[in-house]
Amino acid sequence: MEKLFRQAADILARSQRLVVFSGAGVSKESGIATFREAQDALWGRYDPHQLATLQGFRRNPKLVWEWYEHRFGLLGDVTPNPGHLAIAALERYVPHVVVITQNIDNLHRAAGSSDVVELHGNWRFYRCLGGHKGFTRADFADQTDIPPQCPRCGDMLRPDVVWFGEMLPPEALERAFAESAACDAMLVVGTSGLVQPAASLPTYARRAGSPIIEVNPNRSAITPLADVFLQGPAGEMLPRVMNELATIMGEERTASPISPVLRSQ
Ligand code: APR
Repeated sequence: MEKLFRQAADILARSQRLVVFSGAGVSKESGIATFREAQDALWGRYDPHQLATLQGFRRNPKLVWEWYEHRFGLLGDVTPNPGHLAIAALERYVPHVVVITQNIDNLHRAAGSSDVVELHGNWRFYRCLGGHKGFTRADFADQTDIPPQCPRCGDMLRPDVVWFGEMLPPEALERAFAESAACDAMLVVGTSGLVQPAASLPTYARRAGSPIIEVNPNRSAITPLADVFLQGPAGEMLPRVMNELATIMGEERTASPISPVLRSQ
């Protein structure tokens, strides 16, 4: 395994333009409940695939709003794990790092990654059915309506996350494909690689001749494309890679290679 950590670190040390592509697995060690896990006794009788849709919201806006309040409540007190922090620390060594994530949990931003493309939105933001965007909870804190009304037009507010059957935000998708085609290396962390169109991003990197590193405890649809496959949890694998990278870059080996980032937290 040591040899694989070194190989991955060598790729990262040479990279000038890195894409990190992440899925739900990178947040697993932060204790994020996935759709299924969030279905506790209270909400277990509902099918998330019915609730997380525009039709479901129009049919019963109060129910869908309260379901998200329940899920976001679970998200509220989770923090970035060493995997997120290691990804943020890459910016100390690689000139241009962009994180393209399928997650809505805001944890890459919270860990300090400065350029994050969120393909499925972000749970901290809201938009209205009339198309006004960029609201946060502070914008409707004084309202008692459920769901609250848009401060701009009075239409219902909804979480600014992509629901089943909805298109991904075009600007995010366009940037994701452009960065994947232009990168000189891709680090894929914690995705099954099954949900399109995001799952095609590694193919774009491969076509551009970029080496691919994958971190996942299980093989995924992306593993056959990987030059280096680190089979294990991100929170353990990525700090080990960062340790090797710090050595290559001439820094002393530290107990926790991401401690500089932690120090700055
Ligand atoms: N570290 C890294 N990877 C992990 C870890 C971990 N600690 N634990 C699990 N994994 C891997 C799993 O092996 C799996 O391959 O994370 C991956 C998670 O896959 P999915 O649950 O399919 O999540 P994701 O790939 O992000 O799904 C894409 O589908 O459910 C919808 O909208 C949702 O954004 C999601 C999209």
